[in-house]
Amino acid sequence: MDTLYWTVNKTQPELPVIRAAAKIIKEGGLVAFPTETVYGLGANGLDRAAVKKIFAAKGRPGDNPLILHIAHNRDLFYLADPVPLKAQVLMEAFWPGPLTLVLPRRSLVPYEVTAGLDTVAVRMPRNPVALALIREAGVPVAAPSANRSGYPSPTEASHVRDDLNGRIEAILDGGPAGLGLESTVLDLSGETPVILRPGGVTKEELEQVIGDVDSDPWLKEGEGQPKAPGMKYTHYAPRAKVVLVDGSPEKVPLRIRDLTADFQRQGLEVGLLLTDETWAAAGSLAARYTKILGSRRDLSGIGQKLYGELRHCDRMEVDVIITETYREEGLGAALMNRLLKSAGYNVVEA
Ligand code: TXA
Ligand code: MG
Repeated sequence: MDTLYWTVNKTQPELPVIRAAAKIIKEGGLVAFPTETVYGLGANGLDRAAVKKIFAAKGRPGDNPLILHIAHNRDLFYLADPVPLKAQVLMEAFWPGPLTLVLPRRSLVPYEVTAGLDTVAVRMPRNPVALALIREAGVPVAAPSANRSGYPSPTEASHVRDDLNGRIEAILDGGPAGLGLESTVLDLSGETPVILRPGGVTKEELEQVIGDVDSDPWLKEGEGQPKAPGMKYTHYAPRAKVVLVDGSPEKVPLRIRDLTADFQRQGLEVGLLLTDETWAAAGSLAARYTKILGSRRDLSGIGQKLYGELRHCDRMEVDVIITETYREEGLGAALMNRLLKSAGYNVVEA
């Protein structure tokens, strides 16, 4: 199929474009659209056949459930029951925004969306293009990240085109996604809220509003089964091998220098994704591709660039990407979760 490509104003999206995109969704097709986290691949979340097309287009495993995107808080009550007080408090505090709530599903939500689970994940995105599209479609929009399964999530429309051109009906280009990391997935179906995937809203921010929040033990120990089915799959992984260097700020730059030289002696092309601090301390470093991601003090700036840079390393045909770890606090928890997965847990101690 020919994929339509529409550029759209990111703050005041043109209504005719939004209507055309919404029509595709209503008719059972797939449209990629920007959100404030990453680009999503949307379908009518109440249409089983349309939802199945998402899995086919992405090559996504059938047991990995999708998030439903809504444009009004009240729509949550059609999709989930019960909606506990904590969920209501959280949606007042963080919606629209990068927080996904997992709640018991109502029977209207097809099992194709929840991958057979009796819970459903719902969020309201903050991006005006996303909100306009959902409103105009008049249905909850099921949308995973708009990448080929396993690859880093798309933070620009061109990334979506690279992965899905010819496989979906349309792409709405609303410029770069804001955060560059996906939403926080919070399970509210049990007694204590549990973070299943760290993301744009931090644990600290959630606890300020609802008190104690746990993290899925799987996130720490990597053993047993994660509660978010998607977490068990290879994710965010470029073709190049990713090596994460962990240790003190004094040792990490030196270890990166040694590793770079080692790989180069083996005839491998190296890509370096480094903070200002590590780059400055490493002295002269020469690699096929080097990107300074910004200061360690600006984790959101680093988060915005990460996926695009992992993709860029593949375009530069590097064999190995060397990068560094972050403290798992605030946005650092989301950043480390993505880095560990993209590296297949390949951590080198400095
Ligand atoms: O920021 C985001 O969340 C983006 C944008 C497009 O909204 N979407 C996104 O979707 O990252 P996806 O499909 O790539 O990741 C959804 C995650 C997966 O890890 C999935 O397993 C989990 O949410 N999930 C969805 N429904 C769930 C459920 N009922 N129970 C547990 N985990 C669920
Ligand atoms: Mg994804």
